[in-house]
Amino acid sequence: EKGAYPHYMLKEIDEQPFVLRKIIQEYQGESGSLEIDDSVTAAILDADRIYIVACGTSYHAGLVGKQLIEKLAAIPVEVHLASEFCYNMPLLTEKPFFIFISQSGETADSRAVLVKVKEMNHPALVITNVPGSTLFREADFTLLLHAGPEIAVASTKAYTAQIAVLSILAYATGKAKGASTDLNLAKELGAAANAMETLCDDKEEFEHIAAEYLRAAFDCFFIGRSIDYYVGLEGALKLKEISYIQAEGFAGGELKHGTMALIEKETPVIALATQSYVNGSIRANVKEVAARGAHTCIISSTGLEAEGDRYVLPAVHEMLTPLVSVIPLQLIAYYAALHRGCDVDKPRNLAKSVTVE
Ligand code: F6R
Repeated sequence: EKGAYPHYMLKEIDEQPFVLRKIIQEYQGESGSLEIDDSVTAAILDADRIYIVACGTSYHAGLVGKQLIEKLAAIPVEVHLASEFCYNMPLLTEKPFFIFISQSGETADSRAVLVKVKEMNHPALVITNVPGSTLFREADFTLLLHAGPEIAVASTKAYTAQIAVLSILAYATGKAKGASTDLNLAKELGAAANAMETLCDDKEEFEHIAAEYLRAAFDCFFIGRSIDYYVGLEGALKLKEISYIQAEGFAGGELKHGTMALIEKETPVIALATQSYVNGSIRANVKEVAARGAHTCIISSTGLEAEGDRYVLPAVHEMLTPLVSVIPLQLIAYYAALHRGCDVDKPRNLAKSVTVE
């Protein structure tokens, strides 16, 4: 029930800190550290490469997951769109391990790949929000998102839950491998949950940004580098699907290779700057578009902020910033859609779970 909320989407955005705390609780072992069943980490460590397969928002979470797994467990990861992988399968390594990410566990494109992978006898883990769903039943291993039912067509809390569970998987696999780390993931995720709450309490600010940048916009660009690029892809998808504004997520350095031609006076460009090692270069990209008249909005992290930034996010561990940086983008999309009178929870042409290929 959405209770006092005007839309499920807003309710589900607000639930994110609670979902994150629930995930910490569900995956916490007796020692207090976050754990994954040994059978899962052993199967992953037996593999020479991980293939993540998903669609839409879950694919975007997979991109973040790749970065987490490669950093914390030092295993190479490829991320694939299920609808492409199925008909245009890459050359697999000798010992692949598959991770399917699906909120609903019913997405036909993802299931088609799972069926093929099982025919080839490769191990598959499904990360889903729905126990008993088709993908859940057909997988060798499963991890649950514990996000509670997601009703709004636009996925929000499942995305952050997927990233949180992927971070735990990456962390536990790294530990099982004997990688030394001083990361206290339970503590860092707890801090991210608090930061999420701060952002959810700051809705008015994001409503202002939506009004200022998007009320009259025909299009919008989201730019970032590294992990911020992946979050930008998700921000663009959210905006497209509920407000019907043409939006694109772009790697900051890639704009000058063609897309910059689309930047006109007042074109909104929302930039994320949460990663210290690319902070200078993303800001240079913002200057490039600003010089061509773009209406730029920089969302940065505490510690990396500069004068003129539109919003500064609370500090969280640099690897976990997508958990917080996506919230302004979700809320900006929500308010942009609202201002345009769109049906936020049930956007045109879309279904909550896509059960056809
Ligand atoms: C976007 C959205 C979709 C889904 C995609 C995969 O807001 O919800 O892009 O992420 O259809 O769905 P699942 O995760 O259920 O496989």
